[in-house]
Amino acid sequence: MRPEIKGPVATHQRRHFNKLVDVFDTPQPPDVMERLGEIVSAAELRRGDVVLDVGTGAGVLIPLIKSYHPSIILACDLAERMLQRVREKYPEVLTRHADITALTLDAASVDVIFMNAMYGNIADKPSACRNIARLLRPGGRLVVSHPEGRAFVDQLRVTTDLFIESLPTRGEFQALLKPLGLDVITYRDEPQLYLMVALRPRSTGQPYIAKRE
Ligand SMILES: C[S@@+](CC[C@H](N)C(=O)[O-])C[C@H]1O[C@@H](n2cnc3c(N)ncnc32)[C@H](O)[C@@H]1O
Repeated sequence: MRPEIKGPVATHQRRHFNKLVDVFDTPQPPDVMERLGEIVSAAELRRGDVVLDVGTGAGVLIPLIKSYHPSIILACDLAERMLQRVREKYPEVLTRHADITALTLDAASVDVIFMNAMYGNIADKPSACRNIARLLRPGGRLVVSHPEGRAFVDQLRVTTDLFIESLPTRGEFQALLKPLGLDVITYRDEPQLYLMVALRPRSTGQPYIAKRE
């Protein structure tokens, strides 16, 4: 994607998703809920973790995340109306109205980052992943997922004018994340579940942040 069209993509996404709060704030079918449970479980959340839900939408993951007793849940989204709904439903969640490429939390301040059903929507994935690598603590995990799988995303690509890219292969994720100090430890590309977990190892010698700053 050319740098000059990253901004308009975010503006379009913001407008689009601001209109869809009620659509996203509806109960999910039991099979989808089961797969969302699997997705959150894959992060191996520990009591007291700091968790960031990127592109939180109406907060479908929040009750599942809460059940692991994190110390802080942060929810980030481009669409402020989505965040308003999240605050109404979960006043304990801290919301950040931002593009993930520009989210300004402290470096190495987050244990687990979820990106559910939103990775394909990001125009500038290298910048998003650089920021995520910056935010993750040693031992931290990134979970990129879709509870309907790759084919669903590819179908959306032809039925909507929204910016959506196909979900990455394992090799594509490794090529993007390895230079940022993250290892792909789980990759499932199944008919109705896409799930990638990457780990920022505890002892990689020089930490990524130190290399970057
Ligand atoms: C398809 S919705 C998914 C919402 C939620 N994660 C779920 O599973 O229901 C995608 C969300 O990601 C947000 N989003 C898209 N690109 C983003 C970006 N670059 N940074 C932050 N949020 C973004 C959109 O505004 C939208 O609310």
